[in-house]
Amino acid sequence: MEKKYIGPEAIIAKKKKYIMPCLAHFYKQPREFVKGSMQYLYDSEGKKYLDCFAGVSVINCGHCNPEINKKVTEQVNTLQHVCNIYLTENFVNLAEKLAEVTPGKLQKSFFCSTGTEANEGAALLAQIYTGQSEFIALRNGLHGRTKLTMSLTGIGMWRTDPNPVGGIHFAPNPYCYRCPLGKKYPECDLACANMIEDIIKTSTSGHPAAYFAESIQGNAGIVVPPKGYFKRVKEILEQYGTLFVADEVQTGFARSGKMFAIENFDVVPDIMSVAKALGNGAPISAFISTAEIADTYTKPGASTLGGNPVSSTAGLAVLNYIEEHHLKENAFARGEQLRNGLRELQKKHPVIGDVRGLGLMDGAEFIHADGSPAPEILDDVLEELKDRGFIIGKNGVGRNVMAFQPPLVITEENINEVLNALDLVLTEKKL
Ligand SMILES: Cc1ncc(COP(=O)(O)O)c(C=O)c1O
Repeated sequence: MEKKYIGPEAIIAKKKKYIMPCLAHFYKQPREFVKGSMQYLYDSEGKKYLDCFAGVSVINCGHCNPEINKKVTEQVNTLQHVCNIYLTENFVNLAEKLAEVTPGKLQKSFFCSTGTEANEGAALLAQIYTGQSEFIALRNGLHGRTKLTMSLTGIGMWRTDPNPVGGIHFAPNPYCYRCPLGKKYPECDLACANMIEDIIKTSTSGHPAAYFAESIQGNAGIVVPPKGYFKRVKEILEQYGTLFVADEVQTGFARSGKMFAIENFDVVPDIMSVAKALGNGAPISAFISTAEIADTYTKPGASTLGGNPVSSTAGLAVLNYIEEHHLKENAFARGEQLRNGLRELQKKHPVIGDVRGLGLMDGAEFIHADGSPAPEILDDVLEELKDRGFIIGKNGVGRNVMAFQPPLVITEENINEVLNALDLVLTEKKL
């Protein structure tokens, strides 16, 4: 018998009654999604969509990926949970594999369940190792929802807590399209990176525990730092004994065309936080560090669900799938195709002010004729694209960046389809 769904209106009504109102949803007329299959989603009326957002960079290997789900289902039916105070083997095998695929000497992991927790743990580890407590974070960065990670977040919209943690100092983000320092790259000589030294000297006690940055800022609107930015930052941090924490929660696991986006900048962080795509939908996250740093975390610490047999199986299956199906290579090639296509559209449609990205983490910034952010135009275009069967994301501090972060199994034909649909919508709307 065919399953009956309650549909979007009933979901919205229950949401209003039973869910805390902080949780917003995309679209004026949202759909109820009921099924996923690799790069496609289906709604409760059977309509098919090409998913170009992957549940915010989570479903890198595709929805309900049969190879991964077979392994996860077998594990669910064998042993789900005992907690890491008992011995099971999946989490140590996953930690071994993470040590192999992460850059440099990153070696020892702590498993938890969300990106927020991974960043909170990374911050704790940096404080334990350095014996210091202050942090530097980037304007427009996003690191989580707990008191500390919200305090490390540099976007007002996501800073609900009116009493944030002190000792956190914000540096200008490397956002070349709208440089916060009003400069132009490369004549700027990476002024935003150089300012970190001024901040350390003037606003801290001299030795912050860590500098936190997303390797590509996601919520900020797919902000890709210029070449050389992280290298310069790392040189400065090393002079002050400050650790570099790379938040790879949104950028990790082949999305940028490399396993981790920081590898595009030839820099090895001291601590890395990962989440989202590691589980391809299963809740798993981790922070990973060198043996030297990790070995200072000796007081008891554990997470009940962290690295449980099921989520660790998902993580291992994801890492194998990325390798066996060459997802790094596909992300690189399809990303080039997408950005080239968007740049062609930009020539015809002045509403596209900037196109940027790495691999399949790409943004098109929507602007008015005077260059100001155009979030209402973007909303209208996204609604129309949804009605035509394309789910595309949105981010940016001005909520005006069209965000392409699709499953990395997306094909050449899929990219042409979404580019054609976007061209048609922008043409019809005379944008
Ligand atoms: C870069 C980054 N860090 C941390 C987080 C928080 O992750 P979670 O929602 O899994 O707690 C997010 C969530 O979107 C993120 O994009």
